[in-house]
Amino acid sequence: MSPDHRDERRHPRGEHLLDADLPADPIDLFANWLGAALHASRHGLLREPTAMALSTVSRAGDGTWYPRSRMVHLREYTAEGFGFLTSEESDKGAELNDNPHASLLFWWPVHARQVRAEGVVERLSRAESERYFASWPRTTRLGAWATRQSRPVRSIQSLHDDYERFADQFADRDVDCPPAWSGYLLRPSTVEFWQGQPRRLHDRVRYARAGGGWLIQRLNP
Ligand SMILES: Cc1cc2nc3c(=O)[nH]c(=O)nc-3n(C[C@H](O)[C@H](O)[C@H](O)COP(=O)(O)O)c2cc1C
Repeated sequence: MSPDHRDERRHPRGEHLLDADLPADPIDLFANWLGAALHASRHGLLREPTAMALSTVSRAGDGTWYPRSRMVHLREYTAEGFGFLTSEESDKGAELNDNPHASLLFWWPVHARQVRAEGVVERLSRAESERYFASWPRTTRLGAWATRQSRPVRSIQSLHDDYERFADQFADRDVDCPPAWSGYLLRPSTVEFWQGQPRRLHDRVRYARAGGGWLIQRLNP
């Protein structure tokens, strides 16, 4: 059965993204939309408001370029860009090392809002990475020690055994950041905001870096 494209409830009417309401810096609009998503999540209307798809483009051994996407959590955002935490030794770590150009995508269905950001990703300092890592719950931090992200694993049991080994090792102390784990920052060159509207007449507003500021354009949906 195909989904019913006539059902306008799939695109609940949002406020139009009016020119007069567009801030000069996209991070201010992002802060507003993320705030609304966090609020919705506190009221049980949305899960994982900070989840975003990270897409990389890398080159296979035969020279073919290929895209890959996976979800990561936004750990922090500032005027500089969007921060996340992952393993440098993971596939995405290797891909970002090959080619730091990447894109991020948020989708908040409750508000019919999408945000995409494209730019260059850089590794954060050790101190910043440790700060990101420290914000994780203890069990998640132990899980990071117990896993070699993106590598084959022998069995579910071996993962649990490794977790227990590290739980013993860190029994009386704080779980510090494994050497392979790092914070990353995507510095956006473009950020696009999409607000779903009825009749397929959605708002699309793209911010593109221009000189020291941002060029704002409204795009066809
Ligand atoms: C909602 C969600 C959030 C996730 N957050 C992270 C994250 O913050 N960091 C991370 O390394 N992996 C995260 N993952 C797991 C990744 O999607 C992925 O499986 C893992 O990082 C390995 O990806 P890679 O093999 O492409 O490097 C998350 C998965 C989901 C579904």
